[in-house]
Amino acid sequence: MLIPLFASPLVALLYNKTFKVGLIRNGERFVSGSVKRVELLDSLIVFERRDRGYIGIACIGLDDTLFSEKMRSPEDFFSRALILGRLLSNVKAEVELRIAKVSIDVMELSKKIERELSSLRVLLESQSTDERLLERERGLKRLYEKIRSGEKVGWMKPYIILRASDDSKERVVSALEREAEELARAITITLGVQTRVLKSKELGRMLEAMFATTPPVKISLGGEEELSKALAMPPYERESLDPRGVFLGYRVGTKIPFLYDVVRHGTRHILVIGPTGKGKTTLLATIANRLYVRNQVDVTVIDPKGDTEYMLLKGFSRFRISSSTVINSRKASLAFRVLEGVYGSREKWFESVQNGVYGRERNEGGPMTFEELERALGVKLLYADPPSREFQLNSIVTERYSAIILDNLTDDGRFVAIAILMSLYLEALYRTTPTNRLRRLLVIDEAWRSSEAALYYTRRLVKESRGFGVGLLFSTQTVKDVPEDVIHNFGTIIAFGSADSSYVESIIRIVGYKERGIDKKLQALGVGQAMIKLPDLATLSFIDIDPEVL
Ligand SMILES: Nc1ncnc2c1ncn2[C@@H]1O[C@H](COP(=O)(O)OP(=O)(O)O)[C@@H](O)[C@H]1O
Ligand SMILES: [Mg+2]
Repeated sequence: MLIPLFASPLVALLYNKTFKVGLIRNGERFVSGSVKRVELLDSLIVFERRDRGYIGIACIGLDDTLFSEKMRSPEDFFSRALILGRLLSNVKAEVELRIAKVSIDVMELSKKIERELSSLRVLLESQSTDERLLERERGLKRLYEKIRSGEKVGWMKPYIILRASDDSKERVVSALEREAEELARAITITLGVQTRVLKSKELGRMLEAMFATTPPVKISLGGEEELSKALAMPPYERESLDPRGVFLGYRVGTKIPFLYDVVRHGTRHILVIGPTGKGKTTLLATIANRLYVRNQVDVTVIDPKGDTEYMLLKGFSRFRISSSTVINSRKASLAFRVLEGVYGSREKWFESVQNGVYGRERNEGGPMTFEELERALGVKLLYADPPSREFQLNSIVTERYSAIILDNLTDDGRFVAIAILMSLYLEALYRTTPTNRLRRLLVIDEAWRSSEAALYYTRRLVKESRGFGVGLLFSTQTVKDVPEDVIHNFGTIIAFGSADSSYVESIIRIVGYKERGIDKKLQALGVGQAMIKLPDLATLSFIDIDPEVL
């Protein structure tokens, strides 16, 4: 849908306050020291100074849609400003973002608003619940009232100025030309904003004009930190855009990347909820892959159905657990009840499993041998050869990136294997040193589609892994499958949509957020779109997940 765009004046008015930080000090100059000669080259100006070599200036003009197009909330603005800040902080030359204010004809603007309001009204007749249109209408009405009450408005034009100095003119010229071109391209790609490296004549005029107006607005860029401070970035935005964040996709309807700070939030656990086919497995694999690529924290994937196997990148070590033996899950849960409380002695642990699953219940032939048990459970790959019987599954906490794939198992076999894996995981965990820092993410797809026995361990993992620096990334089809007493241990909730109203209600209940219209938003989400709630924050974000896989 196309909406006529003239949002810049709106922006200027709404965000004026933000820009008042760091006004340029009077008398500041681009070049200090006395200048011998000024040269206008193709796209930069070079000053030859009397005693300190050369200094050059290049400038990138940005389309003012940087701060307007698609921008409907302070949040969007901050995201963009921060991404821009990050790009700028990578530039070697000295860099400044300047925003020239241009005042605007009030009569002209009122007319424009009236026109836009009436075209919005037409759109709203057919789409009266479209939240974005409503928001836009409210914004325009606010602006209209402000203008009527005599408040001044203007629009802003952003420029990025690059400055380099050196004893050699050649080095100044080549550095600036390259950096200006690269930066302009990076901004266009990342923010979807038109950029242009100004020709030197234009640049000269622009600089003059900028210094003639009093005072131009300047945001100094000492780095991201400083920029976000300067812009009074709300903390939640700062962290979701932290460079450590894992890219999940884009905020719905925008090109604004959404980054999830897994290092910060991971140990608070992540729960992905969604009906079949909405993209849970894809999202899990995407996060696992991106963490692998970024080498940030270690990842263990327990894949009960083998769904992620083909999605995971090459670097993951794969352990396959398969068995054609049918194991009765009732017996398995008995076994694991027996297992409870017997940590400490591995031999006892094995005995318990053997006796519990096969011994007492099987009756004929006495307890199984270790090898028989291995075969029956299909867990051979998990152990070293006898006689040491040392768990190779230590790899579950020592391999940096591994996937344990349980395809080819019967349901019963899978249930037992998952329970065993989880108990091993816990045991291995207890041998590591406690920490609050995220070391590893344990990913389990459809973590609650399992046996009672496994549930016992799932619950313990949720409660205990955090203290050992292990975060959980679990998925489930429905909130109902997750036990009441652990659901609030999940700090991050990522919910896919569904038309089913009881599903939607259950999501709203666990995120505890009652803003009007969330139910509709959740219902309207398509495949690959999800709502995300970060720990301790009431703010919800809606994202188009951009998968790493396929
Ligand atoms: N982010 C996404 N964008 C586009 N299509 C997606 C996305 N995530 C999943 N899909 C599509 O939906 C299908 C089902 O995804 P999947 O992750 O298996 O869902 P689930 O695990 O919830 O059943 C995938 O095969 C893929 O074609
Ligand atoms: Mg799935």
